[in-house]
Amino acid sequence: MQLRAGSLVLEPVTDNDVEEMIPRTLSTTAQGPFKRVPAAASDSLRQQFLTDPDRRYFYIVRGGHRVGRVYFRRWQFVHHGVDWELNTLVADPNLRGQGIGTDAKRAAIAHLVREPHTLSIWAYTYRDNVGAQKSLERGGLGLRGLLSTARYPVPVPEDTFLLYSLELHPPSGDRVRVDPNGPITRAHHLGGLAR
Ligand SMILES: CC(C)(COP(=O)(O)OP(=O)(O)OC[C@H]1O[C@@H](n2cnc3c(N)ncnc32)[C@H](O)[C@@H]1OP(=O)(O)O)[C@@H](O)C(=O)NCCC(=O)NCCS
Repeated sequence: MQLRAGSLVLEPVTDNDVEEMIPRTLSTTAQGPFKRVPAAASDSLRQQFLTDPDRRYFYIVRGGHRVGRVYFRRWQFVHHGVDWELNTLVADPNLRGQGIGTDAKRAAIAHLVREPHTLSIWAYTYRDNVGAQKSLERGGLGLRGLLSTARYPVPVPEDTFLLYSLELHPPSGDRVRVDPNGPITRAHHLGGLAR
């Protein structure tokens, strides 16, 4: 399954091409300055990329080159629909600020609002990560306030992260149609999802 927006394609990471993900994930240049380099070994990362049942990883491909990655992570609680966490990385700092992050988020969001049982798509970002904030807003997510730091894997001050989300009311069904290249409008937030 490929997802598209603008001039980008999101291609699922497979057994054959997973190796490229590992050095980028462990690189402070690729992850920085706002993202944490996880304290994980290459083998466990490879396992996570290929087999984590709740996360789906995609390369961001522009002009035939893998310029970054997107993953979305499924959060589901009892008697509840699905809240998708969205995470984007443009690996080469020189390629940032060219609209890649925004288009990649739009492709992922257009896909996720069509998934059955989606209640929300959410993401968090450091308060001073202006690029991430603009690209989330342009992708259709709205600022909700501070992220509860209880959700973060390591201790950080209370006011570290901003929480963004797109809430679907009612939750998506399998008949929802969204144009991946079109705007995510207020109607998508308030239940007027085109059917
Ligand atoms: C966050 C990220 C995904 C955004 O993708 P991107 O391709 O750089 O963003 P876009 O080009 O779509 O730009 C969004 C806007 O933010 C601006 N922007 C991007 N980086 C910026 C920065 N470091 N400081 C200020 N503005 C920035 C862009 O110029 C653009 O605004 P403009 O059109 O008004 O000029 C990318 O910068 C990245 O991978 N950063 C490192 C990893 C990271 O922090 N991920 C976020 C996890 S929440």
